[in-house]
Parts: sequence; structure tokens; C-alpha cells
Amino acid sequence: MEHLYDKLQILEPESEPLGRIERMKAMEGPLLSWYGDHARILPWRENPHPYRVWISEIMLQQTRVEAVKPYFARFMEAFPDVKALAQAPEELLLKRWEGLGYYNRARNLKKAAGIMMEQWEGRLPASYGELKKLPGIGSYTAGAIASIAYGLRVPAVDGNVLRVISRILASREDILKASVKRQMEEDLKTIMPKERPGDFNQGLIEIGAVVCVPNGQPKCGECPLFSLCLARKEGLLDSIPYKTPKKPRRQEKRTVLILESEGKIAIEKRPDTGLLASLYQFPNVEGRLTEEEVAEFLTEQGGRVERMEAAGEAKHIFSHVEWHMEGYHIFLEGTLPKKYLFVSRHEIRTKYPLPNAFSAYIKRINGES
Ligand code: ADE
Repeated sequence: MEHLYDKLQILEPESEPLGRIERMKAMEGPLLSWYGDHARILPWRENPHPYRVWISEIMLQQTRVEAVKPYFARFMEAFPDVKALAQAPEELLLKRWEGLGYYNRARNLKKAAGIMMEQWEGRLPASYGELKKLPGIGSYTAGAIASIAYGLRVPAVDGNVLRVISRILASREDILKASVKRQMEEDLKTIMPKERPGDFNQGLIEIGAVVCVPNGQPKCGECPLFSLCLARKEGLLDSIPYKTPKKPRRQEKRTVLILESEGKIAIEKRPDTGLLASLYQFPNVEGRLTEEEVAEFLTEQGGRVERMEAAGEAKHIFSHVEWHMEGYHIFLEGTLPKKYLFVSRHEIRTKYPLPNAFSAYIKRINGES
């Protein structure tokens, strides 16, 4: 069967299959042509200014394009350039990031912006090596910015690219290994085109995002690399890419307390290290407390419980732990000693960054559930 983009590919006689590097080189024609026809129109692609490419690439780590779009727009409005980002109050920055998760990514953005102000006249350095020295910028992000925004010939290997290329090559190596990624970067460096290196990288990422998808069956019928793909030819799509199985996540039960007094709700700041560092939260304790235990816990702290309602169960999955939560909405007479901050619902919405883990309970206090 002749495939859509076959004419742009070098022919591969059955008796003389392509070697690894030749096969990678053969991706160029069909890939660039397909990307020209199929690239999604995205805000950071329409105007690939280095600052915009940087912010979008950091947001796109661990988060889907559709979810990123509104965050990107709001972030650009609040922090339109490196200077605004460097000067951003941390709490406001985290509030704009709220819901994207992995909050250190936002903190690193601010740190890197500070360095750009001091060392690079408020701009992103136009060098792969210098970009990589900045906080939060690893080889993938440095490669993405350098190639997409500056047109430099460097690879950008993320999980999408690892999946696509290990399938093309039918490589059974563990794509979570740093050495496998490094080798792929090395090989790509030798075969990348001088023209359109940013499109080449984004083409591979795009195939990984919309054709050779991360979960579920790849849409091989739509793939410009159909004829080159050894995993497809050899029936190995279910086992490639290979990843070492992860350790199961720790399961944690927590009891979440929505403490309300005169229309204000108690929040507290989390410790400044560890999970969800420095973000705010509803008071919560490990384990499942009964109503009586909750009342006792609050009385010990000098609280006077007026009434208590069940606030339902909720689950949140982090990378290494799962929280299985049960909530109580407790109406207090008077507030509690210092430990908690009693704030309005409006302040919770607009001022204090509360992680997504609590979204079920935030909805509840806002009457949305
Ligand atoms: N995921 C990561 N980087 C991306 C990009 N530049 N375009 C689309 N999806 C992406």
C-alpha cells in the first residue's frame, strides 16, 4: 500500500533495510511536509517570541495543550515580559499558576527571569548552552527555545519524541533512562536539517501529541512516518516505547477541615519545602477522623463547634502519592488561635494560591457542588 507521504521518503528496499541514522535522516521530508500541512495553530506558534516559547514549553511539561491555552493567555497578560516576571510577587505568580501543578516550575521561571535581567539585558540568551544553565531549563526546553525561537539546529527531545523515534527504530530501550535520551539527542544532532530546525522538532512533538499518542492506539493511518516505522512493521506497537514500571504511589488518607466563622474560612500556609511547598491549604490531618475526633481536635485548640456537616470524599493523584480525602464543613463560634488565617471566599478565589488537590472543597464553599 502506498502511503500519504511516501513520495517524500527515500525508498527502502526489503533486502537492504536502512540503518539507525539513515532511518532517522529519512524522517525529514515527510515530517516537514506533514507539519506544514497539519501543525495546530497555537498562540505561542503564531508569535514564537523567545519569552513566549519559554513560558509555553514550561507549561506544556506535564500539562495538555488544551489545558495550557487559558493559563498561557492569563500569564502573558499578567507578566508580559522577562522584567515583569522577574518582579512578580511570588504569591501572585503562584496564584496565576494555580491548577497547573508542579509549582517549582513557576518559582524557577521567576529565578531564571532574575538572572536574565542581571546577565542578559532582560532577554533569553540565544544559545543552547547558556539557556541550559538557567534554573528549570533542561536539555529539552533549551532545545525547544533555541530551535523554535532562534532557529538554531539543536534537538528537543521530550516524552513525545522519545515515543515516536523509539517506535520508528523499534528500539526496546527504556525511554526513562537518561542515557537513552542523551543518545537520541546525539543522533538527532547529526541528522537535523539546517533549514526549519524548529519545525522539525515541533513536527516530531506534534506527531507524538496527535498521531502517535501517549495513551491508546496510535493513529498509524494518519502518520507521515508510516512506511519508516519499524515497530509498526514488526507488530511491536504495544511493547514500544518500553518504560521500567514505576513504584506504586503511596496511598494516604486525609481528613480535610473547612472551618467557617462569620463567613470567613480558615486556611494555612504549607511548609516551605516538600510537597506543595508554601502554598495555602484548608487545615487537614493524616488519617480518617470521625466527627467526634474532629470536634475533639478543634476543642483542644480552643475552638467552639456550632455545627458540622459532611463535605464529601475527594481524591487527588500526585506523582508519588495519592490523597484519599474526607471533608467536614465545620461552623465555629469565634475563630481559632493564630495558627489559621480566616479569609473571605473572594480572597481564596483571587489572592491565595490553593492547589488543585483541594478543588472539590473549594467548589463546595463556592456553592458549586
Ligand atoms: N508539547 C510540548 N511542546 C509542545 C509544542 N511546542 N507544541 C505542542 N505541544 C507541545
